[in-house]
Amino acid sequence: MKKELKKIIIAIDGHSSCGKSTVAKDIAQRFDLRYVDTGAMYRAVTLFALRKGLIKGQTVDADTLQSKMEEVEVLFKKNPVTGIVETFLNGANVEKEIRTLEISSRVSVVSTFGFVRRRLVQLQQAMGREGGLVMDGRDIGTVVFPNADLKIFMTAAPEIRAKRRYDEMIEKGEQVDFNSVLENVKQRDFIDSTRAESPLIQAPDAWLLDNGHLDRSQQLFLVVEKLKELGWL
Ligand code: DC
Repeated sequence: MKKELKKIIIAIDGHSSCGKSTVAKDIAQRFDLRYVDTGAMYRAVTLFALRKGLIKGQTVDADTLQSKMEEVEVLFKKNPVTGIVETFLNGANVEKEIRTLEISSRVSVVSTFGFVRRRLVQLQQAMGREGGLVMDGRDIGTVVFPNADLKIFMTAAPEIRAKRRYDEMIEKGEQVDFNSVLENVKQRDFIDSTRAESPLIQAPDAWLLDNGHLDRSQQLFLVVEKLKELGWL
């Protein structure tokens, strides 16, 4: 008998800018599952801290941020016109603000704090209680859903990932140069994989997907094959 796909939990982890959200959205759309972008949640907390004046350069006033964490409410809503899931911070749509280089260059630091992670992991686990979702991030298969039905660990060479993010930002009209984007990607890899709290590591039971030379339809094809192999389709 086939397993019940509408209850599946798919955890996607991996390096920055390797297209986790693209594959996650594609899977969610194809199988009518919810998509949760946990990076957006860490980005929203970073935006919150910036707006409160709690970040100077790379230094965060952790004590004040911790005391204000209860005030942070992050949720996702589907845009009824475009069908795209957007991020809301305390009731306001912040989807655009959280994708800037200003946020990208500070989010790794904010996400090293245990009090930030504990709060967001709690929210993420609550979102997954009913199953039926694809969640992407850095610790989904290791911390948030260690019993996920399918764990995917994605990666690609830093230069390929930087080029993708650079193209994306240029398309959105941001003023950036390639080398600072590459630097940011490498710096985030380093911080993400060496931090003490929930570092980015491949779970032993995760399936490795290097999409450096795969296009969007090829990577989705491989995931579909994987789901068949595991008896979900
Ligand atoms: O996926 P992203 O690039 O939008 O993530 C932004 C940052 O958030 C990334 O540098 C690491 C952090 N993050 C995390 O620590 N844990 C997650 N589950 C998701 C993101």
